[in-house]
Amino acid sequence: MYKLKEITDKVYYVGVNDRTKERFENLWPLPHGVSYNSYLIMDEKTVLIDTVDICYSDIFLKKVADALGGRKLDYLVVDHMEPDHAGSIRLLKEEHPDLKIVGNKIAFGMLDGYHGIKDGLHEVKDGDTLSIGSRELKFFMAPMVHWPEVMFTYDMKEKTLFSADAFGTYGTLDGGIIDSEINLQRFWGEMIRYYSNIIGKYGMPVQKVLGKLAGVEIKTICSTHGPVWREHVQQAVGLYDRLSRYEGEEGVTIIYGTMYGHTEQMADAIAFGLAENGIKNIAMHNVSNVHASYILRDVFKYKGLVVGSPTYSNQLFPPIDALLHQMELREIKNRYVGYFGSFSWAGAAVKRLAAFQEKIGWEQVGSPVEQKQGMKESIYEACIALGAEMAGKLKNN
Ligand code: FEO
Repeated sequence: MYKLKEITDKVYYVGVNDRTKERFENLWPLPHGVSYNSYLIMDEKTVLIDTVDICYSDIFLKKVADALGGRKLDYLVVDHMEPDHAGSIRLLKEEHPDLKIVGNKIAFGMLDGYHGIKDGLHEVKDGDTLSIGSRELKFFMAPMVHWPEVMFTYDMKEKTLFSADAFGTYGTLDGGIIDSEINLQRFWGEMIRYYSNIIGKYGMPVQKVLGKLAGVEIKTICSTHGPVWREHVQQAVGLYDRLSRYEGEEGVTIIYGTMYGHTEQMADAIAFGLAENGIKNIAMHNVSNVHASYILRDVFKYKGLVVGSPTYSNQLFPPIDALLHQMELREIKNRYVGYFGSFSWAGAAVKRLAAFQEKIGWEQVGSPVEQKQGMKESIYEACIALGAEMAGKLKNN
């Protein structure tokens, strides 16, 4: 029944769209859903690359059966054991009991832990190959991109890289599967958001695997989420390279908390100072109204960051505190940072932002601005000056 998209010669897309889940990992908003991509190679041997979330196993198994057209499934390659991709393995194995599962030692430990599967395993190590007829598959270990068992599978004939989560995006595939068939406008931002939310902590492992792949010709990238990359392979790899080196574009993320609007007035004055001095990319986030998912995206995207917080119970405003923790967790490097804050009777926020800046080791730009109660001209001018200094720093970068 299913018409299945042929991605490259005899490689079919058998993934599914999830427009039901509101949050990925029950954490990260999915306004445009998410796809779980799986691919079936129909060579002398039939090989499935990854499965899908168990909620979609019914439609997935039907797609695989249609693509197989009565042939048996010889191999399942497990590139990643996170349940959004490995959730349907047990059901697949029940339907195809002779199936051989190809993966590494760590994946097999997880396979046993999640599904109780111990038999019919074919273990591979970094650089191993598997002949499946007219083509060979080569395996590149990619630990911590995003879990320790992650590996990439490379179709040496079609020069296609099956890259697990890497190069993936949020957002469903609404008809088109390959980048050339899709208006990509929203997917680039969603690739940065996915990276910053899910993989952001693992810049070094990403650099390591990019290094391994440096001499490998890649014509197509099949990630487990979002579009298949063919026209934009270099752009996708370039973006991952920049993100994993924590290299920011010219622009500033302003993050502030505000209870009654006084700290927000400071943020507006800083933005004015930035714009007056030529910064066009300004991402302004009221931390109480914007999910951390989007703020982290912009912190990864832009080189400049300005953080502001009211003093709250002699501490930082709680959502600012939580967000700083998220940034620290991701070990974000190489940012210029300015900060500001406000208080009504005893100031603590600016002191605490200074302590955070020192701990994380970003380069401080401009003089911190601290406001007592309402806005005064001297504070307003100091905020504009902070914006101007940040702009100057970015322009001279
Ligand atoms: Fe899409 Fe790390 O799972």
